[in-house]
Amino acid sequence: MDGVSNAPKCMSTTLVVGASGATGQQVVTQLLNAQHKVKAIVRSSVILPHSWEDNPDLTVIRANVLDIEIPQMAAHLEGCTAVVSCLGHNLTLKGMFGSPRKLVKETVVLLSKAIQMHPKALPMRLVLMNTSGNRNKDATEPVAFSQKVLLKWLKVLLPPFADNIAAAEYLRAEIGQKNSWMEWVVVRPDALVDLTEVTPYAVYPSPIRSAIFNAGQTSRMNVGHFIAALVCDLEQWNKWKGQMPVVYNKTE
Ligand SMILES: NC(=O)c1ccc[n+]([C@@H]2O[C@H](COP(=O)([O-])OP(=O)(O)OC[C@H]3O[C@@H](n4cnc5c(N)ncnc54)[C@H](OP(=O)(O)O)[C@@H]3O)[C@@H](O)[C@H]2O)c1
Repeated sequence: MDGVSNAPKCMSTTLVVGASGATGQQVVTQLLNAQHKVKAIVRSSVILPHSWEDNPDLTVIRANVLDIEIPQMAAHLEGCTAVVSCLGHNLTLKGMFGSPRKLVKETVVLLSKAIQMHPKALPMRLVLMNTSGNRNKDATEPVAFSQKVLLKWLKVLLPPFADNIAAAEYLRAEIGQKNSWMEWVVVRPDALVDLTEVTPYAVYPSPIRSAIFNAGQTSRMNVGHFIAALVCDLEQWNKWKGQMPVVYNKTE
């Protein structure tokens, strides 16, 4: 997909976890701009952007996501057609190496169990923000031996990286492609950068460059735009469901 057009307007509701993060904020803002309703789960201490204040389309739920019980999460999901995770470990010693080590995977499991509690006529759509350093084992994604070795070490040395991989693997292998209650897309950006507007970007089913030795760039705003398009545009959803699209900024 090529994209810079505005996300289409849609009237349903999306639950966003990790909504206070740099990318999560982009997702929420772009969904609100598309007149979409959003429920945002944020930790209690977080200060939210001014532009969100008094927005009738936004419901803010102040909670630590992993403290939420499955039935309570199921209640939050009531009325939603999609859920987005932009969670990531804070880049502090505690965030990287402390508890919860499996923040992203445990949240995806929690959301999946909550979705399964009250299956709807149409499957719930879940978008997981992930990383281009992760491989989709359902696709043919050859990786150079040197990169394979390095990635193995990164998995051991960097718990957040291992967590991201485990979360995507849960969707790929445990939830899979064939159930009537949930569908998923794992979005894999390359090295994240911040730009002030949506710029031309391209989306591929698999990486087109080495995430380690030749990484490209992906702006968080473009990730937000692509995720909003997935949530709002059924055509986009049907194109990418059950896959792990990789997003790159276009350079010219
Ligand atoms: N950096 C890169 O180049 C790159 C490239 C590809 C993919 N990624 C991945 O992209 C994801 C998002 O990136 P980002 O830059 O948008 O992340 P970010 O700004 O650090 O946002 C992380 C979000 O997770 C929440 N969070 C962190 N620890 C938590 C905890 N223990 N309990 C509940 N919530 C918690 C944060 O909440 P608070 O605001 O309350 O802290 C925040 O909402 C990450 O998984 C990252 O690994 C990064």
